[in-house]
Order: sequence, then structure tokens, then C-alpha cells
Amino acid sequence: MSDDTPRFFAGGGVQVSAPGRVNLLGEHTDYNDGYVLPVAIPQRTYVQATPSADGRFHVYSSNLDESAEFTADGELPDGYARYVAGCIHVLRGHGIAVPPLSISLHSGLPMGAGLSSSAALEVAVLRALRQLLNLDLDDVQIAQYAQAAETRYGGVQCGIMDQMASSLADTGHMLFLDTRTLERRVLPMPANTELIVIDSGVARTLATSKYNERHAECREAARLLGVPMLRDVADMAALDALPPLLKKRARHVVTENARVLAAIVDGVDGPAFGELMNASHASLRDDYEVSVPALDTLCDMLRAEAGVYGARLTGAGFGGACVALCEKPRAAAVATAVTERYNRDRLLQLAGVLLPTPDAETELPQPLFD
Ligand code: GLA
Repeated sequence: MSDDTPRFFAGGGVQVSAPGRVNLLGEHTDYNDGYVLPVAIPQRTYVQATPSADGRFHVYSSNLDESAEFTADGELPDGYARYVAGCIHVLRGHGIAVPPLSISLHSGLPMGAGLSSSAALEVAVLRALRQLLNLDLDDVQIAQYAQAAETRYGGVQCGIMDQMASSLADTGHMLFLDTRTLERRVLPMPANTELIVIDSGVARTLATSKYNERHAECREAARLLGVPMLRDVADMAALDALPPLLKKRARHVVTENARVLAAIVDGVDGPAFGELMNASHASLRDDYEVSVPALDTLCDMLRAEAGVYGARLTGAGFGGACVALCEKPRAAAVATAVTERYNRDRLLQLAGVLLPTPDAETELPQPLFD
């Protein structure tokens, strides 16, 4: 049993885990063949797999206390078990037979917070299958198969950032990734900084359909510009040829790629990195239109604190979490203060004291790590 295996897994079979990620810069660039800069987070998804005796696959989620079952050739289950079945189908598509298994899951990652809970699940399942079946798969292939499971069976036309981060990143470094070539560099965080991640508690309603809509808009913008992908736009002036909406979308992608490249230059310090994060958030809010008021508010609250260099939404947006870069000694106090203030304002809002409730959900956030 590995050191980080949760105590509730009884012994037997294989037990593995994979982390979530927080992306620092390079949002909505990966499906445009662009650049990304994620970091793994301490929260992980744990998987235990043992052979199943009855010829069926069984999946149990301890978070939900729910079970699902399916057969290799039958219909795919819904919900979390669909990602498990999707991974098995992808392996079969590569000629790898997977015998019936009983798979138990436990996740320390909040679902729908934009911290890659689905990628962590896919990567953990594929790691378990690699170990159990002695498969000759490297970590990049694991990420590629996990992405295939997500796009084919999860219904999201996602890029490969989350799966690469879950499969290859660690919690102490930024993983710079060129999503076209999969070239990557492991880089130190800016000196004397710490990350703060706070979940807004806003559920990502319509995230999948809006995400796929942005994906289609980018494809259309690239087609009109006559380039294979928006990564290939060399000159901002070229964007003037696009209709206004597509111009905004493309401008986000082009400027966001430039921000990632600016952030990985030697000697970029906390304040400079933070400026890039603030600019990224503005671009996601105004040009890409994937922010929501709660994320803007949370970023403003974070930026108002002494020691915070910058803050932005992280992940796909439409809800989910914010990430801030903070001067190291102040990070814990800032995380606590902002979470308390945000929760208090949100409680008032939910009670209808300040404004009509913009979002329906009520779960209040905790800082995820600092
Ligand atoms: C989701 C997707 C990623 C990426 C981000 C936005 O997390 O899974 O591939 O596109 O959104 O940057």
C-alpha cells in the first residue's frame, strides 16, 4: 500500500492515486495547440482495483457511497463510473483486453471546482490498470488515453492539459507544456511565493455546452484566418479580419499564449507573474466570457490583500475556483481572511440581503490549500 493510500481501502489488488491540478496561466489554449502552465495540487483521487469474480465490472465511490456496474460490451454507465468505463473502452480500442474488475474510488478533490477531478480519476484508473495488467504505457500515453476517455465518453472537447498535469506534474513546480508537441519543462515557482486556491462554490452550470461552444468558435476563427489552429496566428493585426465575437475569442487565445511565454522567462518574479495572472483573468472575463460575478468578486478580494501579486479564475471557468499568487509568509493569513469574507458576503447574498441570488447552490468554500 502506498503511503498516501487512504485508510478505508482494505488491502488487496492495486492501489494508486493521481492528483488534481491548478492552472496558473494558459487557459483555453490547450485545444488551440497552445501553451499551459499547471501545477499539481495535494488533493488526489485514489483507486483500488481487484479482479471481479462475476464477469462484471463493479465501481464503488466512497464519496457518494454509490455503486455502479457494467459489462465490457454493454451500455456505458452514467456519472463517475462512465469515466472508468471510458478508460477501459479506450484501452480496448488499443487492443488491450481488460478483465472484469472491482474498482473502488475515493477523491479528495471537489467535483466541478475546475481542479481536474475527472482527469485525476481517469489518470488514477489508467495507472491502476497499467499496474494490474503490467501494461507497457508511459505517463504521456496515460495522459493521452485519459484525454481520449474524456472527449469520447465525457462529452467535453477538452485539450490535454489536465490529463498531462495529473500524469506528469508535481506540487512543487510549474509544468510548462507545449500542447502541440507535448514538449515540456519543469520550472520553479517564482521565488518566495505561495499559491492560494479558493473554490467559489458556484456550480459550473452549462460548463460543458459553453466549453464546447468556445471550442467551436476557436475552430471557426482559425478556419477564417486560414491557419491550422489559433496557436499559429503570428500577427495580432490579422484578427481584424474576424467578426467581432470571434475576434474577441481569438484575441484571448493569442494573448494568453503570449502571457505563458512571458511567465517562463528566467527571472520573472512574483509581482511580474501576478500581473500576468491579472491580465489573464481580464481576458477570460472580457474576451473569452467564461467568468461569472462570483469569480470576479473573489479575485478582487484576493487582490485587495497585501502580499497578493495576482489572482485569476482557474480551469474552464463558468464557476469553480480562483488561484492567487501570494508572498509566502502572508499566504495562510490571506487565504483565511478572504475565505471568511467571501463566505460572509455570500451568506448574506444567499439570504437575499444584498442582491437576488445569482446562483442556486449553497455550498460554502474552504481554501483548498495555501
Ligand atoms: C478544462 C479542460 C482543459 C482546458 C481548461 C481550460 O479544464 O479540461 O483541457 O481546456 O478547461 O484551460
